[in-house]
Amino acid sequence: MTSLSNLLHLHLLLLAWLLAASAESPEPRLSPSEQESAYLVLEAINPAIDWRSLYPDDLCFSGPHGVVCDLLVDEEEIHVTELSFGYLSDYSSNPPCGENPHFAPRISSFPFLRKLFFYNCFAGGPVYLPGYFWNLSSSLEELVFIENPSLIGHLSGEIGKYASLRRLVVSGSGISGNVPAEVGKLRALEQLVLSRSRFDGAIPASVGDLGRLRILDLSANRLGGELPAEIGGLGGLLKLDLSKNGLRGVIPDRLIGLREELEFLDLSDNRFEGGVPLFLAWMGRLRELHLSRNPLGGYVPEIWEGLGGILGIGFSGLGLVGKIPASMGAFLANLSYLGMEDNHLEGEVPIEWGRFEKNLKELNLENNRLNGRVPFSADFVARIGGKLRLSGNPGLCLAAETGNKSGNPQPVLFRSSLLASSTVSTSGGFHVSHRSFFTWSLCFFIYLLRF
Ligand SMILES: *[C@@H]1O[C@H](CO)[C@@H](O)[C@H](O)[C@H]1NC(C)=O
Ligand SMILES: *[C@@H]1O[C@H](CO)[C@@H](O)[C@H](O)[C@H]1NC(C)=O
Ligand SMILES: *[C@@H]1O[C@H](CO)[C@@H](O)[C@H](O)[C@H]1NC(C)=O
Repeated sequence: MTSLSNLLHLHLLLLAWLLAASAESPEPRLSPSEQESAYLVLEAINPAIDWRSLYPDDLCFSGPHGVVCDLLVDEEEIHVTELSFGYLSDYSSNPPCGENPHFAPRISSFPFLRKLFFYNCFAGGPVYLPGYFWNLSSSLEELVFIENPSLIGHLSGEIGKYASLRRLVVSGSGISGNVPAEVGKLRALEQLVLSRSRFDGAIPASVGDLGRLRILDLSANRLGGELPAEIGGLGGLLKLDLSKNGLRGVIPDRLIGLREELEFLDLSDNRFEGGVPLFLAWMGRLRELHLSRNPLGGYVPEIWEGLGGILGIGFSGLGLVGKIPASMGAFLANLSYLGMEDNHLEGEVPIEWGRFEKNLKELNLENNRLNGRVPFSADFVARIGGKLRLSGNPGLCLAAETGNKSGNPQPVLFRSSLLASSTVSTSGGFHVSHRSFFTWSLCFFIYLLRF
């Protein structure tokens, strides 16, 4: 009995002590000036919402999603550290942007701001990146603009002063002008994504100074000049995407410096010359390799032995000549996508390519000069369906090998005049045109030779 009352007594004491302690040091609150700055920024982004009456209390404790605070300076002060705008999903319902959103000058008066994020905000009338934008907090770690087509202006060289920046993302914007050489000062940068915008000029060689970079994506801009060889010094890079620009010259051999980590390489839709680079043979971690639509020319090199992890290859429209290497079929066991259309490849599709059947989901060899019988089973052809595209190769055919070898082989011919590329049929009637009787007999002959 006494022990129970003692315990109760102890509990009451503890409660009293806790109450006294919380009264002594109240929770830190957001300073009135930072609270006012937050209102002004919210009002500029969406004037239609009455932010002050919706969120009259401390914005750190009862503010909208997208306004994030942190206890800082030895847990004594509370500050706004993240501002995210633009509705993303029910799970991250940032403050929605209004009809005519703009920036408020007070956006540069959050001394501890670490992240600033705008998604699908500036999509109406043009909005300039104002000069004061480059007066943001020097603690900034993430500056992200995604899908803001009416955001215009330039990236100022002042960007170089955000030494803590880890992510700089401007994707889907109207931002134009050069990529400032000062980005090379952002030594903490892990992601540099300036894509689907209007950047022009050359890629600054200083990008090669960003030793911690994991993702470099400058795709779909108007960049020109040569690919700076300095990028080969970014040994930690996982993804390099420079596709859809006007880059030219030879792809520099120094990119071999990316071999330890690089998984994704896309240089498609530029004006690179000088053949498919041989250093690719050492990039054993590659999973995606896209070079399509560059006037590279030359042969398909024998670089495949160490590249068994590759899932997708885009070699379309490269001006490739000669035969397709059998080694691709032998080594690329996991290949799921292969595009080699619109080249000048000739000869047969090597019998080793039959091994692709296990994983291949899409193969395009249209518009080459290939001939002979394609070494795929009827099962595979039926499974892959319209994703097998072979038209535009006057001598190419597919023998129907139905698993029981009793029936007559019935080749299907691939001629652009015969088959729309998306309709390949092996079950039921086969399409054989009388105009291509010669090729038909040739394929039939080849079929007999092989079996
Ligand atoms: C940026 O901040 C500095 C120092 O606080 C100030 O002198 C300057 O006028 C500001 N620039 C802009 C464009 O607001
Ligand atoms: C192919 O894929 C399998 C399963 O994902 C994986 O275990 C294997 O290592 C891959 N092959 C190569 C050569 O990377
Ligand atoms: C074997 O061939 C015949 C005649 O072509 C066909 O009707 C039948 O479905 C085939 N059987 C199998 C198991 O593919």
